[in-house]
This record gives sequence, C-alpha cells and structure tokens, in this order.
Amino acid sequence: MATDLALERDLKKIPQHIAIIMDGNGRWAQAQGKGRVAGHKAGVDSVRAVVRGARQAEVKALTLFAFSSENWQRPEKEVSVLMDLFMFVLTKEVKRLHKNNIRFQVIGDLSRFSDKLQKSIAKSEQLTVKNTGLVLSIAANYGGRWDITNAAKQLASQVKNNEITLDDINEDSLHQHTCLAQLPPLDLLIRTGGDYRISNFLLWQAAYAEFYFTDILWPDFNGNEFEQAINVFDQRERRFGKTGEQVVNK
Ligand code: IPE
Ligand code: IPE
Ligand code: MG
Repeated sequence: MATDLALERDLKKIPQHIAIIMDGNGRWAQAQGKGRVAGHKAGVDSVRAVVRGARQAEVKALTLFAFSSENWQRPEKEVSVLMDLFMFVLTKEVKRLHKNNIRFQVIGDLSRFSDKLQKSIAKSEQLTVKNTGLVLSIAANYGGRWDITNAAKQLASQVKNNEITLDDINEDSLHQHTCLAQLPPLDLLIRTGGDYRISNFLLWQAAYAEFYFTDILWPDFNGNEFEQAINVFDQRERRFGKTGEQVVNK
C-alpha cells in the first residue's frame, strides 16, 4: 500500500509552488446571518488545512494572499479586526509551524503595519529562517504592481549609484528584486469565492502559472478541495509557448 502511494506520487505532477487568493469569507459569513468578521475567523481553519495538505503533497512553497494593498479601503472596523486576527494567529501558530520545519515569511509593504505587528512578523521570520521544509509566504499589504515597481526602483537606485549599468537591466535582474525570487516558479494559482480575476496578486510571478478557480468560499475550502486542485493541475499540459507535440515528445 505504501509503495502504491509512493508510486502514485512519483507519477503525479505535483506543483512545486502554489499560491491562493483566499476569497469569499464575507459572503460565507453573511450566508449564515453572521458578520463578515466571523468569515475571516473561520478562514483560519482553511489556512491550517492547506498548510497540512501542502506538506503532505510535498509542495515546496505555499503563498497565501491575506490582505491586499487595496483592502485598506474597507470599513475601518473590518481592517482593524483583520489586523488583530493576523497578530493573534501569528503568536498562536508560529511555534507549530516551526515544529513542522516550515519557513515562514511575510511579503508586502510592511511599513504600513503597526510596530507591534512588524516586530511580531520579524520575530516569526527569524525563528523559522533556518527551516528546510515548506516555505509559507503570507502576502499582506501586498500588490503585484507594488512588487514590480519596487523591483524597478531598486534597479534604478543601483544604476544611480553606478553599481550596475542600464544594460544590466533585463528580465532576470528585475526578477531577482521581486518577491519570492528565491522560490521555485509559481506553478498553480488557486482562487476561491467564484470570481475570475487576479486582484493585483502575483502579476509578475503568475506569467506562466496554471489557474484554478472554484466557487467554494474560502472557509469551506479544505484538504480535499486542495487535493482536487492538485489533481486538476496534473491533467494540464503546460506548453510554455511551444506546440503540444514538442512538449509531449521532449
Ligand atoms: C477574503 O474574503 C479575505 C480578505 C480579502 C481579507 P472577503 O472578505 O473578500 O470575502 P468576500 O469576497 O467579501 O465574500
Ligand atoms: C483579494 O480579494 C484579496 C485577498 C484575498 C486577500 P478581494 O475580495 O479583495 O478581491 P476583489 O476586491 O473582489 O477583487
Ligand atoms: Mg472578496
């Protein structure tokens, strides 16, 4: 039985890097006659489930969209509850992540967060920095346009300081300054909640990712749903600009 499972894993294409737009918390709560915040709280269980699923499937990197640069426009009360929840989950869960050899990091413009939250993030990152298992990245105050702009700014500053020349600016060097550059390329981007858009998530990194959209609202997304997304990925033919014949006969 164990060998069957091992064999199945060898034959199946497992995405090395999965990202998820965790959407639908508010609608999930409203459907139950509760406030939106109840949906965000329930969504934490789904985060635990996908982290477990990613470890079981031996995925190398999991990147979760928790708060976009546009989400500041929500009612103040909802934003403040989301910040409190983030802080609470961080302090409560990070030891468990560490025990499971998970490397934790937050991507996004952290400067807008409270000092307390920034310190808690830094502490969690430091604790897990040497771990060699799953890399769990949480995107908070993240925007794909911000990410690319930030990379361009860093290159521009290097040109200004005569560290590099204009000719050193190319796709590879810009890539090196975007978030997640050290991780395997993004293979699979999942969005829950029924909308078909990227909402300014990993614009640069998603260039050749496979997309998986599901109507399931984030608090209802569980280990089985995650496995199903991986199974769908296994059925996709990734051509990267080539013809079907080329990739089949390679
Ligand atoms: C996603 O769920 C969580 C965040 C954006 C923080 P939503 O809060 O967007 O839920 P819906 O889309 O309104 O249902
Ligand atoms: C995307 O969801 C951001 C996160 C899941 C954190 P939104 O609910 O903010 O996306 P839009 O506004 O519907 O595009
Ligand atoms: Mg939403």
